[in-house]
Amino acid sequence: MQRTLRVFRFQPGKDEKPHYDEFTIEVQPAWTVLDALNAIKWHHDGTLTFRRSCRHGICGSCAMMINGKNELACEKQLKTIKGVVVVEPMKEYAVLRDLMVDMEPFFEKLRLVKPWLINHTAPPTDKERLQSPEERKILDGTWECILCGACTSSCPAFWDNESFLGPAALLRAFRYVGDTRDEGLSERADILDSKIGVWRCHSIFNCVEACPKSLNPTWGIMSLRNKLLREKI
Ligand code: FES
Repeated sequence: MQRTLRVFRFQPGKDEKPHYDEFTIEVQPAWTVLDALNAIKWHHDGTLTFRRSCRHGICGSCAMMINGKNELACEKQLKTIKGVVVVEPMKEYAVLRDLMVDMEPFFEKLRLVKPWLINHTAPPTDKERLQSPEERKILDGTWECILCGACTSSCPAFWDNESFLGPAALLRAFRYVGDTRDEGLSERADILDSKIGVWRCHSIFNCVEACPKSLNPTWGIMSLRNKLLREKI
C-alpha cells in the first residue's frame, strides 16, 4: 500500500522560507506516522530532521502537528488518517530544522515551578516517605505527563504571551503542590501567582484536547488557583 506524506521543511540560516516536500512511499498496514517518517529518512531523504526515541508514547520527543493537530507520531496510526498525511512542527516553538523545534524555553518554564518535593520540616530519613492510598490518588492525572509540549503549543494564552508558564509546567506544579508531603506552595507562589502564572489561563481547554495522555491540565491549573486562594497566598 502507498501513502503520501507532505512534510514541512525548513533550515533556518539556509532556507529563506519554509516549504513542503511530498513523499509517496510504500507502507505497512500497522505503521504509525513515525514509521513512515523513519522510512523517508532511511530510504528517501536522510536530511529529514525530527526527534524520536522510545517509539512507545513514553518519552514525548516525537510530538508534532499531524493534519493540523498536535499528536505523538509514534502513536498516530496511518490508517486513522484519510488522504495525504500533512506533518508539521508544533506551533509557537522556534523551528530548529524541519520538524524539530526548540524546547528549551518550554523546559525553562518547567524549572521555574520547582518541579521537586519541597519539605523543610520532616526529619531526614533513609526510607521512603509513604502516603496513604487516598493521598497518593490525588496525584493521578498529574504524574503521567510526558512533557511532550503538545498542550502548551496548543494554548491560546501561550500564543498571546509566550512568557506564560503554560499548561504543562502548571500541571507539573500541581503534581508537587498537591502532594501531601510537599510544603513548597509559598516558595512557588511568586511564580504561580504572577502575571505569567495561573491567572493567565482562560479555560479554553485546548490543552485537554491536545494531550496525548488524556490528561486535564486545565483542572490542574484550577486546582492551583484554589490552593493559592485557600491558603490566602
Ligand atoms: S518516540 Fe517517544 S513518545 Fe514518541
